[in-house]
Amino acid sequence: MLSLLPMLASAPASAEEDGARLFAPCRACHSLDPTERGLPGPNLAGVVGRVVAGDAAFDYSPVLRKARDDGLRWDVLRLESFLADPAEMFPGLWMSMRGIEDAAERKALARFLANPSSR
Ligand code: HEC
Repeated sequence: MLSLLPMLASAPASAEEDGARLFAPCRACHSLDPTERGLPGPNLAGVVGRVVAGDAAFDYSPVLRKARDDGLRWDVLRLESFLADPAEMFPGLWMSMRGIEDAAERKALARFLANPSSR
């Protein structure tokens, strides 16, 4: 019982808000504004439903370019498992980010990316 308390105390107001909050550290490298260029990572506007490595203006790693050539697409579920351990899904990935351990956080973040303006 006691172990539930910290979870309850940090329960977010809504899943969408939580997704936006979880995306905050990603903004150092990624934008959701399709016109914004020049960040260290690819633009993520409309990433869900898009082919992997689909930002034409970004120079991706060989592993992501291969995934694109294989026709892989981002959907919410693929994004959730990517976020659990990005380099496990794509060994050699040029994105040094530790995985997100909490499945609920991965889900909130993936949903936010699917629909960033839903708030
Ligand atoms: C330090 C910079 C950096 C941070 C922080 C970062 N990324 Fe990335 N991300 C990258 C780079 C660089 C790539 C391209 C990797 C490659 O080409 O191998 C990438 C690729 C991606 C892709 C694949 C995009 C595509 O077009 O296929 C997704 C999705 C993604 N990042 C999500 C996230 C999320 C969500 C976060 C925050 C939890 C995050 N990233 C944090 C640098 C970063």
